[in-house]
Amino acid sequence: MAVKVTIVGSGNVGATCANVLATREVASEIVLLDIKEGISEGKAMDIMQTATLAEFGCCVHGVTNDYAATANSNVVVITSGIPRKPGMTREELIGVNAGIVKNVVENILKYSPDAILIIVSNPMDAMCHLAAKTSGLPRNKVLGLGGALDSSRFKYYLSRALGANSKDVEATVIGGHGDTTMVPLTSLATCKGVAVSKFLTKEKLDEVVVDTKVGGATLTKLLGTSAWYAPGAAAASMVESIVRNQKRIIPCAVMLEGEYGESDLTIGVPVVLGESGCEKIVDFPISNEEKIAFKASADATRKVNQIMIDSKMI
Ligand code: LAC
Repeated sequence: MAVKVTIVGSGNVGATCANVLATREVASEIVLLDIKEGISEGKAMDIMQTATLAEFGCCVHGVTNDYAATANSNVVVITSGIPRKPGMTREELIGVNAGIVKNVVENILKYSPDAILIIVSNPMDAMCHLAAKTSGLPRNKVLGLGGALDSSRFKYYLSRALGANSKDVEATVIGGHGDTTMVPLTSLATCKGVAVSKFLTKEKLDEVVVDTKVGGATLTKLLGTSAWYAPGAAAASMVESIVRNQKRIIPCAVMLEGEYGESDLTIGVPVVLGESGCEKIVDFPISNEEKIAFKASADATRKVNQIMIDSKMI
C-alpha cells in the first residue's frame, strides 16, 4: 500500500526525520514543506542523491509552502517554528510557535483531513494540546514527540552508567517534554529485565535522571541550537510504528481523558502506536514518588496551556 508522509518544517529535525524515514523505506512518498524558498527542495534533492548509496527506493520531494502537494498524507510530522537558543526554555517559544503551528494544522487538514498528526514544535505538549483542541480531530490522531525522544536519552545515560549495551536497556520517560517536567521512570527501568537499581546506587541513578531531564539543554548549549539527530529519529520511530501498524509502546503526548488521573490535558504517557494512531494508553504501575512527579508535571503543563487560553489561541 502506498504510504505518504509529510514533514512540515525542513530544518534540522524535519530533514533528519525525512532521511531516517527514507533510508528505512517507511513511506513510499515523503514530502518536505517549508516556507523558506528552496530549502525543502534542496534537502529533498540531497537526500534523494543518497538513494543509490543507502539503497532505498522511496521518493522524497520538497516544496515551498505548497500544501496541495501534501494532499492525502497518512501521517504529518509538524516541526515548524523557531528552535530554542542556549539558555532558553522550550516554554519561552510559545508566543511565536503557537500561531505558526495553528496555521500549519489548518492548512494540512484542508488537504489531508484523515491524517494522523505528530507535533514536534516546542513547547511540544502545549503545541500538541493546541492542535488537539483546534483541529477537530479525535484524540487518537494528534500525538506529540516527547517521551520517544526523552526515553531514548534516558536509555543512553543509563547504558553509560551501567556500562551496558543500550540494546539491553529498557526505560520510559513520561510527563511533559520540559527540563523540569519530564518524569524518567527509574522504578521500571531495566537492564536485560533486571531492575537498574540492582546495579546502580541511588546517587548514580539520580545523576542519570538529572542528565536525562536536561538532555536537550545540554545539546543546545553544545550546538548553539536545539538537537536534531535524536529528535528526528524519535519522530520517525513514531511514524514507523503507525504506518507499519507495529503497535509498539512508545511514550508520547496525547490528550488524556482520565488516564493517569488527568483530563483535558495533553502530556506524555505510554501509548500503543498503530495504524489508527494512539490505539491504547497503557497504565504503567509507577511508584508513588513518580505519581507525585507526574502530577507536578501535569500542573506545570496546564499553566503553559493557560497562556494560550488567556490569549484566546484555544
Ligand atoms: C530537544 C528538543 C527537540 O529536546 O526539544 O532536543
